[in-house]
Amino acid sequence: MYRPVSRTASSLLLLLVVILAPVPGGGASANNREEGIQVPNPGTDLWREVRKRQQPPLAGVKPPLNGAPGVDLWMEIERSKLSPVGSTQVKSVDSGTLINPFGDEWRRFRMEWLVPYGGYAVAGMFLLVVLFYLIRGRVPIHAGPSDKRLPRYTVYERMIHWFIAAIFLFLALTGLTMLLGRSLLIPLIGAEAFSLLASASKEGHNLFGPLFLLALALIFFRFVRRNIYQRGDLTWLLRGGGLIGSRHVPSNFFNMGEKSMFWMLVLVGGVTAVSGVILVFPVLGQGREIMALSHVAHAITALTMILVIIGHIYIGSVGMEGAIEGMTTGYCDLNWAREHHDWWAERCENNGEVITVEEAFEAEGFTPGAPKHHRPAGETAE
Ligand code: HEM
Repeated sequence: MYRPVSRTASSLLLLLVVILAPVPGGGASANNREEGIQVPNPGTDLWREVRKRQQPPLAGVKPPLNGAPGVDLWMEIERSKLSPVGSTQVKSVDSGTLINPFGDEWRRFRMEWLVPYGGYAVAGMFLLVVLFYLIRGRVPIHAGPSDKRLPRYTVYERMIHWFIAAIFLFLALTGLTMLLGRSLLIPLIGAEAFSLLASASKEGHNLFGPLFLLALALIFFRFVRRNIYQRGDLTWLLRGGGLIGSRHVPSNFFNMGEKSMFWMLVLVGGVTAVSGVILVFPVLGQGREIMALSHVAHAITALTMILVIIGHIYIGSVGMEGAIEGMTTGYCDLNWAREHHDWWAERCENNGEVITVEEAFEAEGFTPGAPKHHRPAGETAE
């Protein structure tokens, strides 16, 4: 007998079964939550085969404790350092290499050096900046803020500055998540949330990373002339840029500290960018050793930049009164310019480029680009 109700009921039942049925490979989800995510290693069979090989002990090779897990694999790796193992008809970079001992060295370096010391360095730099602020406090404009302004940065210059700043901060945060996240974030947010964050960080880092190269090129061509070292820069360095002690230290449009930060960014950042491209595009004929070396160079140079930029952000914002105004409005306080970039300020004053706060405000309204006589004197008055 035809019974439409029972057919509907059985369809619903079927739907329920489908929804509740365990996903293949996901049957242990409750256990996984307790024990962490268990993803089967796709190379398990291969490694089991490698471990099974019984070969005579090697002279001069110290195995780890007998019976320790992985002892056979360890011996195999040591043996492969003496003579290459495996051959294949597949022709591509590294295709004949069954075990790459350098890979183990790279992994050890990452886990035993990069991760812990990189983490300490970043934490130490934050601590240093906080300590410096507590001891030294904010550097004030000694003559007090004035009602006069000097044009310092064009709209284009501010735009490329905030472009590189945004890209850099994004890459630094996603990069640090990948480097330190396992140790720092898993205890805080759990393995599943971290796995989502780490894979999003990786995708975002790889996608936006190449933009850093573009930002760096834009910054380089725009600011290079004003960052060439000149007489007087060494004096600035020897007197600690005026931050140490209270003596005034003269400087030009950019001081020695800013110039050094610029060249560090260009040279060290250049290595980070190029090694990043090697890592993102593994189709340029580079083998695993080049990839491992690029990774090490990428991580060390990126960490170096992060440390320097923490200092830059501090001094460009809370660390010094009046510093950020030029980068946000395009105009800087005349007294700030006299106290920190006096050679440049003097030239601007002689060129009649001083304007009032109201004029600066009005000129800002005409963006993009201030009126001609309000343009930064950087180009003409270096
Ligand atoms: C996000 C926070 C940041 C703040 C608050 C900040 C602030 C500033 C300020 C105030 C200046 C102008 C200083 C002056 O007029 O003498 C400046 C210049 C500059 N900043 Fe930043 N900045 C930040 C991030 C970055 C980042 C992440 C980078 C690069 C990775 C960067 C690269 C530069 C460069 C290249 C200059 C010009 C200095 C020179 O060429 O010597 N900034 N920044």
